[in-house]
Amino acid sequence: MRTEICPAHEGTPTDPPRIDLPPAGSPARPPDGATDDSEAQFREMADAAPILIWMCGPDKLCHYFNKPWLEFVGRTLEQEMGNGWAEGVHPADLAHCLDVFWRSCDARLEFTLDYRLRRADGEYRWILDRGTPRFSPAGEFLGYIGSCIDITESKTARDDLDRRVRERTAELEAFAYSVSHDLRAPLRTIDGFATALSDECGPHLEGRGKDYLQRVRDGVHRMADLIDDLLQLSQVDRSALAAQACDLSSVARGIVGSLRELEPARAVDIVIQDRVIVDGDPHLLRIALDNLLGNAWKFTSKVANATIELSAVQRAGEVLIAVRDNGAGFDMAYARRLFNPFQRLHRVEEFPGTGVGLATVQRIVNRHGGRIWADSAPGCGASFYFTLPLRATDA
Ligand SMILES: Nc1ncnc2c1ncn2[C@@H]1O[C@H](COP(=O)(O)OP(=O)(O)OP(=O)(O)O)[C@@H](O)[C@H]1O
Ligand SMILES: [Mg+2]
Repeated sequence: MRTEICPAHEGTPTDPPRIDLPPAGSPARPPDGATDDSEAQFREMADAAPILIWMCGPDKLCHYFNKPWLEFVGRTLEQEMGNGWAEGVHPADLAHCLDVFWRSCDARLEFTLDYRLRRADGEYRWILDRGTPRFSPAGEFLGYIGSCIDITESKTARDDLDRRVRERTAELEAFAYSVSHDLRAPLRTIDGFATALSDECGPHLEGRGKDYLQRVRDGVHRMADLIDDLLQLSQVDRSALAAQACDLSSVARGIVGSLRELEPARAVDIVIQDRVIVDGDPHLLRIALDNLLGNAWKFTSKVANATIELSAVQRAGEVLIAVRDNGAGFDMAYARRLFNPFQRLHRVEEFPGTGVGLATVQRIVNRHGGRIWADSAPGCGASFYFTLPLRATDA
């Protein structure tokens, strides 16, 4: 099979302009600008190196492969020359491989790629290929030199580890879900009897007894909140991602409306950018915004002129969404912890909560293939940023 290759910036995918490969048997070009002596030295070193080395010119055509490369693929230099090397790349990896190679070449940038390359015995091996652009002393682009190592073992081990972590996480999620679920029934019983005790015996109880009973009921309610949050956290991973166009602006307005209804006395200036439309799961994104706006609402409760803002910008391949407030803020030294369950930077007496909200938000954002981070300082408000790819992926 002959692989036809065309530069990414020319032609259309259906009608690629053909690049003629150098005629079979044509001599390999020496590294540009190299004298015969230095070239011989270079070849000696490259052939003795325990890595696979290739070189191409500014025309993106390869003109050199060291001995370890040729031995690895079990082909001749003539077969590999020009674009011949691409015949050994796994068909599923070729498009990505060429895309990165051509784009990097056009931008004269270093690149790192992993792809499968057919070994002499026919087995595809994972290769880590690092390409570095070369320039003459006058700054003229000379092409690339690339070095490759076989990473099959470490990649297989990593994939295996990832799979095991995913399996264990799913088991833990299922466990957390059923435990949380099963805890609800006895908790309801405690709550029911505590209420009955308060109703029937309350008048007979003295100050201390009343206080104890109240503490039991507070504890029960806090535990119920925790269970609800834990169930929500584990449910984020349990359903399939149903992505569709989702208007975050109107979702945010609905959430803010409910917050205002719950605390009508609060005057909060809320600015929501119009038509923030993203691709995502509406149910999950609502939970994410519920938590972020809920936090902004909660942590601005002690400032005068509270302000909350939701804005978005589109940039390469993704939408960046920001939720900002001018509330209590926090010390950035602990920022990374916030996205772990039960991590709180404020005391419950100061600002209530269970510390599960941001962990849930992070999972939702990650499931969409996005990232989340925060920026803040104590007393200076907080900004939470998250990205969503233009096309949501079930990551
Ligand atoms: N907008 C914010 N301003 C200041 N601190 C914040 C803000 N958002 C989150 N934090 C800090 O991060 C912690 C974790 O937030 P998270 O939403 O996970 O939990 P929570 O709001 O305390 O409880 P809940 O589980 O009810 O959401 C908070 O307790 C608080 O310390
Ligand atoms: Mg919260």
